[in-house]
Amino acid sequence: MTAWAELHVHLEGTLEPELIFALAERNGIPLPYADLDDLRARYDFADLQSFLDLYYTNMQVLQTAQDFADLTDAYLARARQAGVRRAEVFFDLQAHTARGIPPEVALGGVHQALAAAEAQHGISTGLILTFLRHLPAGEAMAAYRQAVETGVPLLGVGLCSTEIGHPAAEFADVFSQARADGLRTVAHAGEEGDASYVWDALRALDVERIDHGVHAIEDDRLIDHLVGERIPLTMCPLSNVRLKVVPSLAAHPILEMLRRGVHVTVNSDDPAYFGGYLDDVVAGLRAELGLTDADVAQLARNSILASFASEAEKARLLA
Ligand code: ADE
Ligand code: ZN
Repeated sequence: MTAWAELHVHLEGTLEPELIFALAERNGIPLPYADLDDLRARYDFADLQSFLDLYYTNMQVLQTAQDFADLTDAYLARARQAGVRRAEVFFDLQAHTARGIPPEVALGGVHQALAAAEAQHGISTGLILTFLRHLPAGEAMAAYRQAVETGVPLLGVGLCSTEIGHPAAEFADVFSQARADGLRTVAHAGEEGDASYVWDALRALDVERIDHGVHAIEDDRLIDHLVGERIPLTMCPLSNVRLKVVPSLAAHPILEMLRRGVHVTVNSDDPAYFGGYLDDVVAGLRAELGLTDADVAQLARNSILASFASEAEKARLLA
């Protein structure tokens, strides 16, 4: 089976409806949904913000370290079925501390599952702390310090949530600090925002990968820059369809970018919300965008090469 690295997945976006109901019951939390069908009926999104509103509401069922561990473990088990052998997962610590969950509970639970991932699922992992760009940058710095204090190992930092109107440059200090501490850097950009948001993330934050980057296709100079500097885009085509960033999988720019030499990778973003895990995304691209076996092999290879795994691990996964 082809080995994949998944480089763009929000752990909270892997919270399946069944687990929402199970955790609500376990924790005695009332849900505003009559049943699973009532919840699923709300997964028809107009845009990024309408998704984020539901995403932040649903994650309130996550209360104990065991809840975070169960969430993470369920993702890892499903990702392995999709062929994932390396997962660099995003975690929105601020969304949990803001509702009173201590950082050591949230991060401790996630870490418990990640630490067992190699033995349990044959997946090597890294944890990327994603800052919420709709909140002030000072809060990102506070979250970063809290995370470091827990002692849970971090692979990197990232930037997500509401894009338009929240410039990447505001987060330059916390990204500089993380880089000085030896962490890797990524940022969401060019999802709903235009190509200028991608330039901003590269210039202001000096990130090593761009998450999404769909709108880079509108700027030839940017495409040349991404190709020349070999800056990967971690793309999420199913997410982009569900959040109306593109009208259909058939209209997604990932294949054109691949042909033009951009280091694109394919990912699931929030698989519990957008209709599938990595294998489902690849199947959709084969069916609707006409990806060939060779394209799929190239995307798998790109995913390993764009990961932050050691060179030895990359060689092992590519073999
Ligand atoms: N957080 C979770 N999913 C996201 C997405 N697709 N864009 C921005 N922030 C997110
Ligand atoms: Zn994302």
